[in-house]
Amino acid sequence: MNKLTTAFGAPVPDNQNIQTAGPRGPALLQDVWFLEKLAHFDREVIPERRMHAKGAGAYGTFTVTHDITKYTKASLFSSIGKQTELFVRFSTVAGERGAADAERDIRGFAIKFYTEQGNWDLVGNNTPVFFLRDPLKFPDLNHAIKRDPRSGLRSPNSNWDFWTLLPEALHQVTVVMSDRGIPRSYRHMHGFGSHTFSFINAQNERYWVKFTLKTQQGIANLSDEEATASIGGDRETHLRDLYESIEGKDFPKWKLFVQVMPEKEAATAPYNPFDLTKVWLHKDYPLIEVGVLELNRNPENHFAEVEQAAFNPANIVPGISFSPDKMLQGRLFSYGDAQRYRLGVNHASIPVNAPKCPFHSYHRDGQMRVDGNQGGATPYEPNSYQEWVEQPDFREPPLSIEGAADHWNHRTDDDYFSQPRLLFQLMTPAQQTLLFENTARAIHGASQQVIDRHVANCTACDPAYGAGVSAAIARIHNVK
Ligand code: HEM
Repeated sequence: MNKLTTAFGAPVPDNQNIQTAGPRGPALLQDVWFLEKLAHFDREVIPERRMHAKGAGAYGTFTVTHDITKYTKASLFSSIGKQTELFVRFSTVAGERGAADAERDIRGFAIKFYTEQGNWDLVGNNTPVFFLRDPLKFPDLNHAIKRDPRSGLRSPNSNWDFWTLLPEALHQVTVVMSDRGIPRSYRHMHGFGSHTFSFINAQNERYWVKFTLKTQQGIANLSDEEATASIGGDRETHLRDLYESIEGKDFPKWKLFVQVMPEKEAATAPYNPFDLTKVWLHKDYPLIEVGVLELNRNPENHFAEVEQAAFNPANIVPGISFSPDKMLQGRLFSYGDAQRYRLGVNHASIPVNAPKCPFHSYHRDGQMRVDGNQGGATPYEPNSYQEWVEQPDFREPPLSIEGAADHWNHRTDDDYFSQPRLLFQLMTPAQQTLLFENTARAIHGASQQVIDRHVANCTACDPAYGAGVSAAIARIHNVK
């Protein structure tokens, strides 16, 4: 038997009846257990993530199967067979914490590798590209896809008004409106680091790298109709699928691949390798196999581990680093900042977020400091006591940059359409038809001006894309 106490250890004699003056009298202020219980309850909700609020998480392992040490000295890739513990959180993006899972949306695929040299967070999606190239527009994207400020409803007009005014979004919009726009579950989709990152090897040479995770469960998707039926029966299909498959010991797996570009080649590559709206074509930069990610343990407590998980693209380890991708640069600020608000300044000590290797960081104090706060250790550096000694061996090779500081307009001379065109042309006729029809249903409710602008963007991409969307809109909107 586990006997109930207050949070401070005193026995609770009665958890059924509040204390009152007489059997019918008013409550007494001295009923401190009742006050403690309500006060705690009143504070149980923490802010949800600004996007990616609805999610599911699991623990697992990464096992190296192929040698990539010529590209990176990252300890987790140091030898074949090496295993690293990890935690993954999948998510939908636009919906709130209680939203249904089976919605047309991109999916988050965030991985925290607990390496021997600190946590590496690969905070990716199930798509290789993104809607934007400039982080200044990220809050606008979020406001356009979330609820309308007046009605509180989702607004196809705001959503498509914004997307169509930024034609760089068409590549991502094409993916989201395609047959892959509603994965059947988190297990049945690929994952992508999406940005270009750095690999740094033992000789301190830099390579540019992209990460791809290929599902070993096979790609499986829902049609709009199947998704609507599925949400009617169960709003938590993705969460349930992941939880139950792991409970049933059917452990999902993904193979990790990298694409690698020597540092200097960035200047001559056929596309800007730091543009998040573009992929590196496999024919130019083939996939190199690295290892297997397996999820094999459910969290013990959803709030403690999944809700309080804090992933941050700024969390890198020696051998892996950033790139000049403007979007990545913007993200380096936003996540830690959001987590200091959402979870507090000491969120790194929440067990799911804490490194599993020895660590020795000298931040002090702050709300919810629950470790020893470094006791009496010297609280400043430099000091005469060899405390908090920096580690110059881990300096990165210098990165050459050029050019004057300005708000450079990267939309003047660029190509929005060649990659979505390639994607469109790779689709089978059946997949193209689904793209047209999914688009027509999703854009229903937007103004004629916005619809015309989308058709014009699709036509600029490929006349058959524009014509197909236009015909599907005429057909589907007329019968609605
Ligand atoms: C979550 C900002 C682009 C993937 C978040 C959160 C913020 C944010 C503030 C909530 C963090 C938290 O409260 O823990 C941004 C900004 C972006 C950006 C400013 C662009 C400038 C992207 C891109 C990807 C991505 C390009 C994928 C390639 C995710 C994922 C999560 C997330 C997977 C959820 C992580 C989790 O499961 O806890 N983002 N984001 N974001 N973002 Fe982004």
